[in-house]
Amino acid sequence: GRVAVLMGGTSSEREVSLDSGRNVLAALRGLGIDAIALDGIPALNRALREASVDRVFNVLHGQHGGGEDGVVQGLLEAAGVPYTGSGVLGSALSMDKIRSKLVWLALGLPTPRHVAIRKGDDVRRAASLIGFPLIVKPACEGSSVGITRVFDENGLAEAVALAERYPGDLLMETLIRGGGEYTVGILAERALPSIRIVPAGEYYDYHAKYQAEDTRYLCPGLSGEDEQSLRQLALQAFQALDCRGWGRVDVMRDEAGRFWLLEVNTAPGMTSHSLVPKAAAELGLDFAELCLQVLETSVE
Ligand code: DAL
Ligand code: MG
Repeated sequence: GRVAVLMGGTSSEREVSLDSGRNVLAALRGLGIDAIALDGIPALNRALREASVDRVFNVLHGQHGGGEDGVVQGLLEAAGVPYTGSGVLGSALSMDKIRSKLVWLALGLPTPRHVAIRKGDDVRRAASLIGFPLIVKPACEGSSVGITRVFDENGLAEAVALAERYPGDLLMETLIRGGGEYTVGILAERALPSIRIVPAGEYYDYHAKYQAEDTRYLCPGLSGEDEQSLRQLALQAFQALDCRGWGRVDVMRDEAGRFWLLEVNTAPGMTSHSLVPKAAAELGLDFAELCLQVLETSVE
């Protein structure tokens, strides 16, 4: 059958998604698979009406016209077309950092302290509940879009104003530092070797993610029991949000060596700078083999 690689869309991560999508499309075609590109939800709707696709490889990142928030998953469920990645619930929960945390907290999984912020809230008071340094984030964006670290009250108003430019709620979260930044890819319900991310500058922001050539990636990020407990935590976090197929769990470590869950990405980047391909390579899986294995996780 024909595979549609769903990419692009209208979210803030459109360019990242197009990059991911082009890579996946080329890899599938290289394997002799009949694959086409679909840019965004309108193109998917047309293809579904024409019944011209049999399976969807989803690398449409983000929400609101992206494919990571459950909307596309519902559409594909209704149409009876198999797709890669998490279903409606797992996608919707993972897109929302606040609701993800509520689930983890209920299960006793570690995630940094946070306060949810709505427009008009007293942000100084909210900040005083968790203390500085903290991080202000839109609840439902990806690729570090709209995120600011705040070290004292002076930076607060500007950070909140930036995050408010994106749809949905905001959150303030305790900034975890001292033990490094990690991510764990999940493929076919199994945790891949972790990656420790070491940005050349202070932060792994949008530039360090996609443009910088001096961000360093150590894989596996840890060894022995530390690596095992990180992988196990990532898998628990993934399953707690009802995620399936593949994804990527972002984790911070503090100076005492404790891990703290940040979020799950249900349609992780597949750009040349992206992380799941690096973790798969550590296992000897090249990009094309990775794409094939992800495709195989798509179920009716
Ligand atoms: N949100 C980007 C695509 C990622 O997590 O890789
Ligand atoms: Mg993300």
